Amino acid sequence: MKKIGIYYWPLKGNVEKTAKTLASKLTEYDVTLITLEEATIESFDNFDFLIFGNSTVGAPHWEHATTDNKWFLMFHQLEEKNIDFNGKKTAFFSLGDQVNYPHNFVDSLELVHSYLEKLHIQTVGNWPNKGYEFYESKALRGDNFIGLVLDLDNQPDSLDSYTSQWVEILRQEFV
Ligand SMILES: Cc1cc2nc3c(=O)[nH]c(=O)nc-3n(C[C@H](O)[C@H](O)[C@H](O)COP(=O)(O)O)c2cc1C
Repeated sequence: MKKIGIYYWPLKGNVEKTAKTLASKLTEYDVTLITLEEATIESFDNFDFLIFGNSTVGAPHWEHATTDNKWFLMFHQLEEKNIDFNGKKTAFFSLGDQVNYPHNFVDSLELVHSYLEKLHIQTVGNWPNKGYEFYESKALRGDNFIGLVLDLDNQPDSLDSYTSQWVEILRQEFV
C-alpha cells in the first residue's frame, strides 16, 4: 500500500476539516495526517506521496507579519538542511474566501507551492478554476489552480463533491 502524508495548518477550521475529509476518501492508500506542529523534516521520507493543505489568512507578505508562522518555520528548516525532494509527487489544497478577498484569492497556495517547488517536488493535482468568482489569484496557472481550491465560507456544500473529484484526479496521478 502506497503511503501518503497530508501536512496541514492551521488547526480546528476548514483546513483541518478538508484534510480529514481527504484522508477518509483516499481509502486505497495508507494515509497519515500530520499537523505542521508535529511535522519533522525527516518525516517526508516516510511517504511515497505528499499533500500540503493551508489557508490564506492575510495579505501575501505574511512572512513578516509574525515570527512564528509555521509554514515559514518549516521552509527555513528545509532550506537549512538542504532538502531535495527528488521529484516526489506532491499535491496541494487551499482554503480561501472569494467574496471578501477577491484580489488575493487563495494566494498562499502559490506561496507554499513556490517554496517547495524550489526543492524539486513534482506538482500533481491541478484543479480547474471554473465555479469561482474572483479578480486575481497568484495560485492560477493558466485556467487551473495549482491545487484543489475550496471556499467553504461561501460554498460550504462543495466540500464533499470537490474532494471526491480531486481524489479521482490524485488516483490517476499518484502512481
Ligand atoms: C484575517 C483573515 C484574512 C484572510 N485573508 C484571505 C485572503 O487574503 N485570501 C483568501 O482567499 N482568503 C482569506 N481569508 C479567508 C480564509 O482563508 C478562509 O476563511 C478559510 O476557510 C480559513 O480556513 P481555516 O479556518 O482552516 O483557517 C482570510 C480570513 C481571515 C480571518
